[in-house]
Amino acid sequence: MSDFNLPLSGKVAIVTGSSRGIGKGIALELARRGAAVVLTYVSQRSENLVKEICQTIESFPHKPRVYACQVDLSTLEGPQTLIRNLLTWSDQKLKIDILINNAGVENAKALKDLTVDDYNTVFNLNVRGPLLLTQAVLPYLNNYGRIINISSTISRSGFKNFGLYGASKAALEGLTRSWARELGGNGTTVNCVNPGPVQSDMLENVPKELVESQKALTAVQNRIGTVSDVANIVASLAGKDGAWISGQSISASGGHTMY
Ligand SMILES: NC(=O)c1ccc[n+]([C@@H]2O[C@H](COP(=O)([O-])OP(=O)(O)OC[C@H]3O[C@@H](n4cnc5c(N)ncnc54)[C@H](OP(=O)(O)O)[C@@H]3O)[C@@H](O)[C@H]2O)c1
Repeated sequence: MSDFNLPLSGKVAIVTGSSRGIGKGIALELARRGAAVVLTYVSQRSENLVKEICQTIESFPHKPRVYACQVDLSTLEGPQTLIRNLLTWSDQKLKIDILINNAGVENAKALKDLTVDDYNTVFNLNVRGPLLLTQAVLPYLNNYGRIINISSTISRSGFKNFGLYGASKAALEGLTRSWARELGGNGTTVNCVNPGPVQSDMLENVPKELVESQKALTAVQNRIGTVSDVANIVASLAGKDGAWISGQSISASGGHTMY
């Protein structure tokens, strides 16, 4: 019965970018289902938000373990810094079951305005970050691991001014398919979850007309997604129910984008 109530009991999950928005929702849902959760964030102004999330998780009746680490995952050294901190946290007995590569940054500029700095900002966090962190996690990843990369329906939709962001998410999907084949031998699965528009700080930067047109095309209730809509899909994939799904990009958009 307890396995049914807490399907992720005994699992250790890293959720990058979990101070706010979708990452916060995923971290809370994994902890609610029994996992010990590692939160990451980058900016000092999010420190209190993270403390509150830790307190919320620690107040759950099953008392999940939680650990928070401030780290810039767009840097070359960020992923190794996180692992070093986790080794200390775990008394050098680090074992990881679930990695959610969620931290990401958006860019909404027309082709003519894009700079190399834009390219570096977007690709260093959205593509190189998951690549280096997944590499760094591999030595500590248990059999039947779960790697879930948070992409976006924009990877395939070709919206004006989202070329750079969409390309970074398309790159993440390409990595996901190869990693699924490379890592599947011991039961590990690797997938992308692709949210449509979700109410979060990031959505504030998306033009309102685009969001309205997306709502109109969303099959389920003509609404934008909630953090919980996405977190529930991620949490299901992270458990036993996700065992036979790998190398996929799952549209988490209420039927806005149908693959
Ligand atoms: N919101 C949407 O509509 C939507 C739709 C499709 C896909 N997505 C994807 O879903 C993911 C989460 O989006 P969101 O809307 O929840 O984002 P958000 O509200 O902007 O939160 C971003 C998170 O990433 C962290 N972060 C930012 N830069 C970082 C860095 N350099 N190193 C480490 N962490 C960093 C932030 O930490 P701080 O709090 O410390 O800044 C924060 O926790 C992203 O990958 C995004 O592309 C979002």
